[in-house]
Amino acid sequence: MNINHYEESKQVLSGGVNSPVRAFSGLGINPLFIDKGAGSKIYTEENEEFIDFCLSWGVHILGHSPSIVREALKEGIDKGTSFGLPTVLETKLAQEILECYPSMEQLRFVNSGTEAVMSAVRLARGFTGKNLIIKFDGCYHGHSDNLLIKAGSGVSSLPESSSKGVPKNAALDTISIPYNDKSVFEKVMREKGRETACVIIEPVAANMGVVIPDDDFLHFVRKITSEYGILLIFDEVITGFRLGLGGAQQKFGIKPDMTILGKIIGGGLPAAAFGAGKEIMKNLAPLGEVYQAGTLSGNPLAMRAGISVIQWLKKNPESYSRMEEIVSQAVLEIKKNSLLTVNSIGSMFTVFYTQNSVRNFSDAGKQDFKLFKKMYQILIKNHIFFPPSMYETSFISTVHKKEDCLKMAEIFKKGDL
Ligand SMILES: Cc1ncc(COP(=O)(O)O)c(C=O)c1O
Repeated sequence: MNINHYEESKQVLSGGVNSPVRAFSGLGINPLFIDKGAGSKIYTEENEEFIDFCLSWGVHILGHSPSIVREALKEGIDKGTSFGLPTVLETKLAQEILECYPSMEQLRFVNSGTEAVMSAVRLARGFTGKNLIIKFDGCYHGHSDNLLIKAGSGVSSLPESSSKGVPKNAALDTISIPYNDKSVFEKVMREKGRETACVIIEPVAANMGVVIPDDDFLHFVRKITSEYGILLIFDEVITGFRLGLGGAQQKFGIKPDMTILGKIIGGGLPAAAFGAGKEIMKNLAPLGEVYQAGTLSGNPLAMRAGISVIQWLKKNPESYSRMEEIVSQAVLEIKKNSLLTVNSIGSMFTVFYTQNSVRNFSDAGKQDFKLFKKMYQILIKNHIFFPPSMYETSFISTVHKKEDCLKMAEIFKKGDL
């Protein structure tokens, strides 16, 4: 690893990075500077190869740089990179997505998950005429003011779980409650339900590590929100097209009022979306009075990349069970190390550095950081790349080989701990 890239970047980029978790804070190693990716591997500027279990934070379900995406981009690049005007590509990607998510009748494309959530919350407030947002501790919904309250992901590493610079009033309009706790949810609904615009949730939490909803938790949340006429927003930025074509809502058989998608739908380029039934979506400008806009929204290259990935997944639905099978086998091996706990679902998994089960943010917070740091350094030495934080989800792609995953699992099993 060449220390100079980081030293140089620190001169011109705040903290040397463009997203905090990329700084590998507290891990005793410098960030990897990546030159290229191919399939399940990434390569540093020094051409060191790593098996990648981060995959741009869940974006690359087909692995890095798949040929279908490269071909789609080549075709698009000759025609122009942005027009700021409608293209048929936006309609096409919307059709491909809506076919898999019957809870939505329409959607709108934006450039990031943060923007999608921010816009969806504004729409929910405009539609209901109410202000309050209920979220769950450890769920991350991007970095807009209203949602940086007890957020997971990179925010978990900050001394306080929310951020300086978020006005008190923004925080006052959000209540964050424990995940998987029906009685607290019911109590808050009884007290605040009538002033609440929306309840937003990661249906499978992935930003405090993978946390699976208890058997009837999501159904319970759906039932109570319906009773109070509160919009239920599923943030499927991670789970969308990851847990299956129809995401978590299909897996658990629940119809949210609004859905957020990101990551996979842009095929590795910046794209995200929020959507709902027409009754809700007609309140967005230009039809309605809730304003939302974007110079690069629905960018033609991002649309082309997204279309190619989603069409591939639709043609190869069996790839989901193959990924799940590989992850399950690897997880069985990792679990043989009694110091660790593993949560997994489909092609997503998290190794927790605790012997206790993890059902919520408070459980995830009880991990042993020293153990994580030691293990992380061992993984890097063995050319295995994991997200550089204890509160993240690891992923495999359709091109990860079983042997590579078992090699990774073996390292956890031995652990040298
Ligand atoms: C569930 C969830 N929602 C929203 C976001 C924010 O998306 P972005 O980083 O594209 O702004 C993320 C990012 O990881 C996420 O995991």
